[in-house]
Amino acid sequence: MVKTRGLIEARKKLGNVDRIIDNMLRKKKKIKIFESGCGYGRLIMDLVLKYGNRIDVVGMNFKKNHGGLEKMISNALKEKIILKEELKKIKLPKIIYGDAGEKIPLKTGSIDLVLSQTSVYLYKNKMNFFREVGRVLTKEGVGLITYPGSKKIPKEFQPLLKIYKKGKQISFDSFIKSFKNIRLFKNKEGWPAIEIKKANFDFGLELEAAINVNHLDKKLFGVQSIYYVK
Ligand SMILES: C[S@@+](CC[C@H](N)C(=O)[O-])C[C@H]1O[C@@H](n2cnc3c(N)ncnc32)[C@H](O)[C@@H]1O
Repeated sequence: MVKTRGLIEARKKLGNVDRIIDNMLRKKKKIKIFESGCGYGRLIMDLVLKYGNRIDVVGMNFKKNHGGLEKMISNALKEKIILKEELKKIKLPKIIYGDAGEKIPLKTGSIDLVLSQTSVYLYKNKMNFFREVGRVLTKEGVGLITYPGSKKIPKEFQPLLKIYKKGKQISFDSFIKSFKNIRLFKNKEGWPAIEIKKANFDFGLELEAAINVNHLDKKLFGVQSIYYVK
């Protein structure tokens, strides 16, 4: 599992992250960024090095052994994106742990930018994660998230986000069309990504099942989440 994607990958997967941050920093002295599923923290490190103390960053991983500050620093030193003597000068982020699909443990309306690349495909309750993103964002905030998909998962577990309405499967795209402040867009790699703005989403969905394919086959990674409209 790749855990070292940084700003270069984020630009391809999520859009022009730097331009969004630059625009936000024109209106605000300091902004708060949350990355869900930060892995070894390469993106966070790239952003901290670029924006210094104008950004406050919180990263989240599922478990401590998935990556923390130590891993972030050792990886940054190994990849030579920072020198040991420079470490003292940078403001290190906070890394928290838990299931972001259950709860993002941050205050309502406290985050200007939520980023998440290749992580939501591993969450059981993906729709609740989107609801949580809408909750933690500030009024002017934006959330950019890679759409939960994986080419490597067998057909019977695709798509990883399945929604049923009155006995028929409907696409995520058509489901979210009736909701404001959540939309799909095509990223530079030609894959769908999700943009979320401040909202108090009530999707009216029930999570019927979540199948972790990794439990069935250790070589595979992904969780299929099946919902129905209540
Ligand atoms: C494939 S790695 C990607 C890491 C990084 N974003 C990258 O692209 O290099 C997936 C990350 O998602 C995190 N993750 C998995 N399930 C999660 C959950 N339910 N809530 C929060 N983070 C989760 C893992 O801890 C892991 O760091």
